[in-house]
Amino acid sequence: MQYAPRVNETCRMTNNARQFVPISGPPVSRWFGFFSEFRRDSLGFLLRCHAYGDVVKIPMGRIAGLLLRNPDPAMYLLNHPADVRHVLVANQDNYTKAPVPPVESRIFGQGVLHAEGAVHHRQRRLFLPFFHGDHVHSYGELIAQKSAVLADGWQKGITIDIGQEMTQLTLSIIWRLLFGQDSGPEAVDVTQTITTGQHLIKKQYDSLCARLLPLWIPTADHREFSHGHRRMNSMILQLIQDRRAQSQHAHDVLSLLLAATDVDGQPLGDDYIRDELMTFLLAGHETTASALTWTWLLLSRSPTVRARLADELAAVVGDRLPTAADIPRLRYTRMIWDETLRLYPPAWLLHTRVSRSDDTLPSGARLPSGARVFLSPWSLQRDPRWFPDPDRFDPDRFSEDAARQRPAFCYIPFGGGARRCLGESFAEMEGLLIMATVASRVRLSAIDAKPILPEPLMTLRPGIPVQMRVEPACSPERYPTET
Ligand code: HEM
Repeated sequence: MQYAPRVNETCRMTNNARQFVPISGPPVSRWFGFFSEFRRDSLGFLLRCHAYGDVVKIPMGRIAGLLLRNPDPAMYLLNHPADVRHVLVANQDNYTKAPVPPVESRIFGQGVLHAEGAVHHRQRRLFLPFFHGDHVHSYGELIAQKSAVLADGWQKGITIDIGQEMTQLTLSIIWRLLFGQDSGPEAVDVTQTITTGQHLIKKQYDSLCARLLPLWIPTADHREFSHGHRRMNSMILQLIQDRRAQSQHAHDVLSLLLAATDVDGQPLGDDYIRDELMTFLLAGHETTASALTWTWLLLSRSPTVRARLADELAAVVGDRLPTAADIPRLRYTRMIWDETLRLYPPAWLLHTRVSRSDDTLPSGARLPSGARVFLSPWSLQRDPRWFPDPDRFDPDRFSEDAARQRPAFCYIPFGGGARRCLGESFAEMEGLLIMATVASRVRLSAIDAKPILPEPLMTLRPGIPVQMRVEPACSPERYPTET
């Protein structure tokens, strides 16, 4: 699709020479920039920025300017897929990830999520074979079995917190992938620490003061996080040491890391291995759990979609457990999954990118060296230019024909380019097999009819626990009228 300029275009062609005009943006506080509005309503703020064009300049204010020693510090939000592709793929070497707040840095350390340059290339080369093809498919049976045990354990008529159930399920799956064993009671500690960490990270992104406050200052937040983080750390280090002592290899990420070497050919140290495991543990279960929680909620409110899903599952899977080999035929299941990731992308904002040098985007906008770039799946995927009536849940948007009409990079739930999600194939297989297994066994109905708003932490979670009633799946709806 051609690039279609908007009214407030950022450059004009005159006599074959480009003349740059200022990029527009929302009015913000002169001293505090956009932070307070963003803190109050990050998701709404990003959508309101659609009104300012394809490249939106969002000033960070004078205080940030003094701290960053930059007279005009700003974020640049990219709203056009061609510009997004440019930053993520075509000119990706010009962009690095911005430094992260202290809590995030403490959690992920030198893991693959934050590493840069040659170190990052090396990490991806190590992990890519593990997360692709047959190896990923070998986890299909485990996923379906765990999902069946979970769903069969719900008594019909009871109410469950579906977010919690999905989190425990995906945590138990990633645990097996990482450590080759089942998780124990420590799983509760992990989810609590992650929730505390997520709130603190969001606070540090939203407020320069919170970001500058050292973690050793014993505020209630800091104490709770540090306590949980210490426990998680020692638990993971213990698992590493136990495996070293056993000197036996399993097909899990821990064994992969223990067998790997650094640039000098030396085995990787425990602290480094811990960083990688922590990265996969966090990146690899909360995201999928959030996506599934939204899926059940959307299905519960869309009887027609749920009935079509039931028909597909009856035709493709029947009474047995689904397998990875069924996935190509679970076409409608995949369309539901894709549409959920469009409406509620777990990674609602990619990691901020910083330009190494001046860059001119395909839209013609000029980004200065050091520009901080916002790429938001949430705002791109709710742009009515690519997704008419964007708030409506409509899996048919992802039929092959409909998807072909849209430009590349208007839909980026897994990011793009050299930093595209490493676990994408795994997450997709996991999401589809959990949907197929659970929906074949039970019907989940939301207790509360009120809208549930998303809460943008590190992942896009439902703002309140989603309570659902478990009903038998045996009487599928027959395409009733939607209300
Ligand atoms: C629905 C589920 C998931 C979504 C929506 C998702 C989304 C993303 C996104 C958007 C990025 C890129 C971030 C950026 O460029 O700033 C990313 C990176 C990453 N994801 Fe996922 N993810 C999911 C599941 C998983 C799973 C299951 C794993 C592991 C098993 C995983 C591991 C990673 C890792 C290691 C990276 C860092 C890649 C790099 O920087 O090279 N993710 N994910």
